[in-house]
Amino acid sequence: MEEQSRSILITWWLGYIWSHTSTVFLEEDYNIIIVDNLSNSDISVLDKIKEITWKKLKFYDLDIRNLEEFEKVFKNHPEIEGIIHFAAKKAVGESCQDPFLYYENNVIWTHNLLKLMQKYNKKNIVFSSSATVYDSPKLLPPFSENDRVGTYNPYGTTKLIMEYMLKDLATFKWFNVVNLRYFNPIWAHHSGLIGEDPKWVPSNLIPYILKVANWEIEHVQIFWDDYDTVDGTGVRDYIHVMDVAEAHLSAFNQILKYREYLLENKIDSNRWYFDIFNIWTGDGKSVKEIIELVEKVTEKEIPYKIVSRRPGDIDTSIANAQKAKQVLGREYSRSMYQAIEDAWRFIQKNNS
Ligand code: NAD
Ligand code: WQD
Repeated sequence: MEEQSRSILITWWLGYIWSHTSTVFLEEDYNIIIVDNLSNSDISVLDKIKEITWKKLKFYDLDIRNLEEFEKVFKNHPEIEGIIHFAAKKAVGESCQDPFLYYENNVIWTHNLLKLMQKYNKKNIVFSSSATVYDSPKLLPPFSENDRVGTYNPYGTTKLIMEYMLKDLATFKWFNVVNLRYFNPIWAHHSGLIGEDPKWVPSNLIPYILKVANWEIEHVQIFWDDYDTVDGTGVRDYIHVMDVAEAHLSAFNQILKYREYLLENKIDSNRWYFDIFNIWTGDGKSVKEIIELVEKVTEKEIPYKIVSRRPGDIDTSIANAQKAKQVLGREYSRSMYQAIEDAWRFIQKNNS
């Protein structure tokens, strides 16, 4: 008998990272149910996913703050086996200007989701966390999953609160949880059909540099060049978004493997799974090294100016990549050069 394909619910699917992750799950024959309010994306992404995967998916245009509407998704889809939860506004600077917006958006919405998961007994979740939870000024990179955590902006605080909520629910309500701490994902799908195309001037480095390469912005502002790094500019662990996407499938499969182990060994079902993994390369590139790479890929000169440091920035943020490799059997497979090539292809395809 043909194996029944699995169904998963995705919150905030049409966003940058999830739209790439969906291609991985669809190609593994998952049914995907999506919730998105289109506040930072548009419905055209759906057509592009269908063009890439030839697969259909169920889309709900709703805001997960609307608990009554959100609950209908759980009522309509008893087949859901798990949730991939991306719910978060993610701009550090914006979070410092409006902490309450972030507490509501990121924590209260997640609280809504978790209540529905408890009510409908849907307890498998992969959560999108961030390297921002690491107490980086007090740590020596590369950061490991058991390093001390501590936050310096409301965005990072909301991520850490959500990690703690999930740990509590795993321990006391038998949720099965994998937290993925992303470092610096960069786009785009090799088809050039989907990538990070925020509706406003990007705060992240690589989309900003590519808008300079595409003559949309005059020059790059390098936030300070006197850090304790190879050339004085900030060093980060950039990772191709498709490697991030594939890590979500490995994380979800880890939960399924655990559940199958309990069933095969007839172990009391009131057991829970909780783990944390860096998503990552373990390698770091400085701002100037990234600019040089973009110049090589685009064959364009990227003008820049050195300006004052951005509040909250740190010298170096690099992941220790060993745990995901040992436990999930997962390591990154795409080079920075390929990531920049794929991103540039997206820019050129979407500006023609
Ligand atoms: P994104 O902004 O591209 O995607 C967010 C999506 O959520 C958008 O499609 C938006 O329309 C939708 N949305 C916003 N408010 C909503 C609401 N109330 N109800 C339903 N949908 C809503 O973000 P992204 O870059 O894809 O990030 C996804 C996750 O990854 C976030 O949790 C973010 O914190 C985390 N993360 C991102 C990065 C990064 O550099 N992009 C790094 C670390 C962690
Ligand atoms: C990278 C480097 C900047 C822009 C952020 C969030 C983090 C996560 C990933 C959500 C730094 C420098 C940048 C520019 C620059 N997002 N830079 N000029 O700050 O490492 O991480 O995105 O979870 O939470 O904090 O990424 O791309 O903003 O900066 O010089 O115009 O580039 O100083 O060294 P960051 P970034």
